[in-house]
Amino acid sequence: MERDEIIKALSPDTDPAPLFALADKVRRETVGDGVHLRGLIEFSNYCRRRCYYCGIRAGNTRVRRYRLSPEEVLDCARTAVRLNYNTVVMQSGEDAHWGPAGLAAVVERVKTETGLPITLSVGEHSKEDYRLLRSAGADRFLLRFETSDRRLFSMLKPDSDYDNRFRCLAWLKEAGFQVGSGVMAGLPGQTAESMADDILLFKKLELDMVGIGPFIANPDTPMAGAVNGTLDLGLRMVALTRIVTRDTHIPATTAMGSIDPQGRQKALKCGANVLMPNISPTEHRVDYSLYPGKICTNEAPEHCAGCVDAMLKSLGRERAEGYGHSLKI
Ligand code: SAM
Ligand code: FES
Repeated sequence: MERDEIIKALSPDTDPAPLFALADKVRRETVGDGVHLRGLIEFSNYCRRRCYYCGIRAGNTRVRRYRLSPEEVLDCARTAVRLNYNTVVMQSGEDAHWGPAGLAAVVERVKTETGLPITLSVGEHSKEDYRLLRSAGADRFLLRFETSDRRLFSMLKPDSDYDNRFRCLAWLKEAGFQVGSGVMAGLPGQTAESMADDILLFKKLELDMVGIGPFIANPDTPMAGAVNGTLDLGLRMVALTRIVTRDTHIPATTAMGSIDPQGRQKALKCGANVLMPNISPTEHRVDYSLYPGKICTNEAPEHCAGCVDAMLKSLGRERAEGYGHSLKI
């Protein structure tokens, strides 16, 4: 698709039904009907950065900080095995507590004990640290570039550097990770032109995974009171990403499910093929408060497993076989 066509398809004046139908067809032809389940471990909400949109930003005193011990992370990974999830995703703020060697040691333990593919989502690090984490056994890495609009990026992430974010994505690829990136949809000041550029960039970067969620204003951040992104825009972004990137793994994200009770189901019907059920300890979930209204914060991992299986059944889909590695390798 050309940039102009993408911009038109993002417009609320364009009927999304044909777009969603095409994305669903492309999804079936490229990645099939199976849905990959990745167990999400939110292992620390400490963060050294101050992104304007994010509830766990440094300096937010309203958030109760927590950090799982290596043993607790391992327990979560055991839960993933018990629930037959074929991957664990370890996500945190940019928490320097363990240092690269400490984090690598946790990765190694999870890998040795479970044998599962491990995805990390721990932010920006040096090329050497990424290499260390890769050799410790991490297979994949998620690092959203958040927006391709350089000006908007520096407004929203005042202590991050746009070029460094993309340098990190290149280092991750060089280190041999399967790489995921993504954006928020409906950020204040974000234009259809920049969102079309986001999608074209997903393709240019040859990403293995692309995550998209609507922006949800957090009252404990400088963006309190900003207008939220919409499910409709998020779904259009998912559908266009599927059509343009073809065989990437695309999750129906938690933010989609938080902005609308049917958000994840709708995403699975217009291009998405991955779900990331939460396997973090229930007591800490409420504190990984990126945005308000986040789903599954009171549930136990078993409950989320039952919920996603019921969701798949209602959609006539099933759990995908295998580890759900990139289809590009
Ligand atoms: N610290 C790592 C990083 O920044 O890459 C990983 C964790 S970060 C909390 C995970 C993602 O949450 C971000 O990439 C961002 O897109 C999303 N997020 C944070 N605040 C959000 C908000 N208010 N609305 C929607 N998504 C949000
Ligand atoms: Fe932690 Fe943005 S606030 S990386």
